Amino acid sequence: MLARVSDDAELPVYDLVGGERIAAMVAAFYQRVPADPILGPMYPRSDLPMAEQRLRSFLTYRLGGPADYLRERGHPRLRMRHASFQIDLAARDRWMLLMRAAMVEVQMPAEIQAYLEGFLGDIATFLKNRSD
Ligand code: HEM
Repeated sequence: MLARVSDDAELPVYDLVGGERIAAMVAAFYQRVPADPILGPMYPRSDLPMAEQRLRSFLTYRLGGPADYLRERGHPRLRMRHASFQIDLAARDRWMLLMRAAMVEVQMPAEIQAYLEGFLGDIATFLKNRSD
């Protein structure tokens, strides 16, 4: 995944953001999940640390970092892997709201946050599987 988010050259977003900040963002997202009335009930409470690890690993790979996710989980097949969750517009928007709050918490640089909001928002829309 390449993005022109600096004047210099096209760099993988992973190199611009850094693995540490991606990990911090995903951790801040999952901290918010259990108390959320829409998302909380969807995520298996006992498996949250593993869920956090899966999302971190996926984003690392999709943003141009090490592709451990592919070795661990195979092809992402995200539509299929989300099929058992009821993802309507409210769930999609809540996921993005929590992720935006996580980005603010880890002080994601503004232009990278804008890029990630587009990138994640497109996937979130693609994962909707209920009409509203
Ligand atoms: C639109 C709202 C969304 C909802 C309600 C949602 C919900 C969930 C839930 C409940 C899980 C199971 C937790 C686990 O055991 O891993 C999951 C897994 C996952 N989600 Fe989402 N998700 C959403 C959007 C997204 C987006 C936008 C992405 C990517 C940018 C994403 C990436 C993933 C990944 C990579 C996994 C683990 C897949 C695997 O390897 O098994 N999700 N999601």
